Amino acid sequence: MKKIFLAFLISFGAFAQSTISVIPKPQSIVQGKGKFVWNENTQIAVSDDNLEAKEVAEQLALRIKIVTNKQQNVVTGKGSNRILFSKNNQIEKEGYVLKVTSSGVNIEASNPIGHFYGLQTLLQLFPTEVLSSSYQSKLILSLPECTIKDQPRFEYRGVMMDVGRYFFPVSFIKKLVDVIAAHKLNVLHLHLTEDQGWRIEIKKYPRLTEVGSIRKESMLGHYRDQKYDGKPHGGFYTQDEIRDLVAYAQRKFVTIVPEIEMPGHALAAIAAYPELGCTGEQYEVGTKWGVEERVYCPNEKTFEFLENVLTEVIDIFPSQYIHIGGDECPKTAWKNSKFCQDLMRKEGLKDEHELQSYFIRRIDKFVTSKGRKIIGWDEILEGGLSPNATVMSWRGVEGGITAAKQKHDVIMTPNSHMYLDYYQGNPATEPLAIGGFLPVEKTYSFEPFSPELTEEESKYIKGVQANLWTEYISKPELAEYMLFPRTLATAEIGWSSKEKDFSDFGTRMTKHFERLNQMAVNYSTAYYNVSFATEKNKLNQPLVSLKSNDPSGIIRYTLDGTKPNTKSLVYTDSKKIAVTGDRTIAAAYFTKAGKMLGSVTSKSYVISKSTGKSYSLATEPRRYTGGEKYALTNGIRGDINSNEPWVGFSGTNFDFTLDLGQKTFFSNVSVGFQGAYSSWIMPPKNIEILISNDNISYKSIKKMELGNAVKTENFVQQLNISIGNNNARYIKIIAENYGKLPAGHPGQGTPAWLFVDEISVR
Ligand code: ACM
Repeated sequence: MKKIFLAFLISFGAFAQSTISVIPKPQSIVQGKGKFVWNENTQIAVSDDNLEAKEVAEQLALRIKIVTNKQQNVVTGKGSNRILFSKNNQIEKEGYVLKVTSSGVNIEASNPIGHFYGLQTLLQLFPTEVLSSSYQSKLILSLPECTIKDQPRFEYRGVMMDVGRYFFPVSFIKKLVDVIAAHKLNVLHLHLTEDQGWRIEIKKYPRLTEVGSIRKESMLGHYRDQKYDGKPHGGFYTQDEIRDLVAYAQRKFVTIVPEIEMPGHALAAIAAYPELGCTGEQYEVGTKWGVEERVYCPNEKTFEFLENVLTEVIDIFPSQYIHIGGDECPKTAWKNSKFCQDLMRKEGLKDEHELQSYFIRRIDKFVTSKGRKIIGWDEILEGGLSPNATVMSWRGVEGGITAAKQKHDVIMTPNSHMYLDYYQGNPATEPLAIGGFLPVEKTYSFEPFSPELTEEESKYIKGVQANLWTEYISKPELAEYMLFPRTLATAEIGWSSKEKDFSDFGTRMTKHFERLNQMAVNYSTAYYNVSFATEKNKLNQPLVSLKSNDPSGIIRYTLDGTKPNTKSLVYTDSKKIAVTGDRTIAAAYFTKAGKMLGSVTSKSYVISKSTGKSYSLATEPRRYTGGEKYALTNGIRGDINSNEPWVGFSGTNFDFTLDLGQKTFFSNVSVGFQGAYSSWIMPPKNIEILISNDNISYKSIKKMELGNAVKTENFVQQLNISIGNNNARYIKIIAENYGKLPAGHPGQGTPAWLFVDEISVR
């Protein structure tokens, strides 16, 4: 009897607990049954031994004043009916224990950082309107009874904002500080200097902002379009603005890490001071995105300049880390410079990578002499890592792994998961972005520790960061759209324990959207987008199932590719869609009330004599495998919306042999190639079709030169090749890879990708 009663209590507890929904997820939550309700006698207090937390307590008072219009003075001492900030030296630096009972609230921490994070959790326990910026007449400030014990997993939890490509006003940067701090992120990395703009006042070098902060025009549309808007763009932060911003962020325990990029991405500075370049020529501030060959020359003038710049930067940014960039520095200018070649001989540097390493070492020495530490992108590993450097691993996690094995600190920010400038949904319905596909679930799945590292080496992984590059993001509302909700996922990776559950996160996140509404954050709802999974039915036809991350709504779809509405077909798991002919299925998520959330996603299917048939490849694909063994004949046609169905070959040819199982009549072969110039994906140079009955001797029946579609983007070159009447069992298709990327391409000289999908034979 007693046991049953206990079981009842436990299940009730679990039920009640679902009302608490905090991001990032705390380490432990025990929820009670009652609640605390704020009344006119409730006070905000710090304990006698905890006056240092007064400023944090005042932040709560200010929040309450905004939404209730009532002034709260922070008092001292314990007592009931209080929100008390008290001292507990047993708790780790950033940790806190938050206890809500019906008679009051106690937030314990060993120092104000912990109190600040306890306060952020408290604000997520109140009704969401507490986060509004205006008076809320009907607001009842109640809190669920609970005990929350919490501390972060990683010490570095960051977001990078590129203010170089576009300038963003201080008001937006402060809002960003507010919102990231509310999610217990503690670093805002500002990418302050770029080819296309220098954004920080340097007193000793006024031309950096007079000349370097303004470009004459910006790219319009995508890079590949090579179009310009003809309008000047500029802006920079004065040192007074920076000091004010730094102090503002400090009150929210956010460190602003400045990035002064070198030796590449420096054209704006060279335009202001031509002697910093290798030729001394006068250039204009950059207008074209991509990787610029005009870089700093490693001469004494440049080092003097950079040391003077860094001296002013170090003076206004108290951050321990000073980011010195280090990425994407082409070596052409150095190869062509007599000065650089002489310097390499004199210093015994065997190649230009070692020259870059020499450059970074000198800067490291200088920054270290000022009591700070350099941090740089993972290219600083090339040519040898400087002794005191921390590495930001962006080209995957490999650089981070290498650095950790060399006993260097690492921040993980792999472009595979943490590049928030990538698409969150279908490019056809999303704002223009640089490329890629990085939905919130992908970001959320990132684990900073690698199995390739021992426990000892893993200690060098200090944390994570999400990056927002802004080539295609010119306005604050668009920046917010790209940052959120993926920044929430970043916060949870950085703060919460390793064990994660995306569906639990998603449930909390959909509630949290209401908080983002209150904070006036323009977030993306791509979370609701419908995803497709395709299996085979008994007839070897594609059988499609549809899924939204949110199981509480309804999925509706069409079979002709048109936009679904509230009258369209309803999908259920018991009625998967069997594809019997060529179709485009378009699907979207609707709430029970009939509101569409997220955007429409679609997939095209083709059914032909090759559907479901096996084949072999002379060279296996790399990285992009199409998701399954026979991805090229699975009936799913690759389109521009996703890289998933595509089969990718890096630098190698497509050499494919289809086995139709028996002699078969056919007269047409269809194949698609993707063109995505800025993603390094090029259509093939030519294609040849051969047939055979024994898979030994082949007869060539068609050969075509292609390759006029080189500079295309998000483009499918769909070839429908008529080959006359044939009767054969084997069909071989050979398509020649474009080869090395051409001059003028950001990846010049490296192998192009060849992306192929869906072979259909009719
Ligand atoms: C980078 O994305 N070039 C660091």
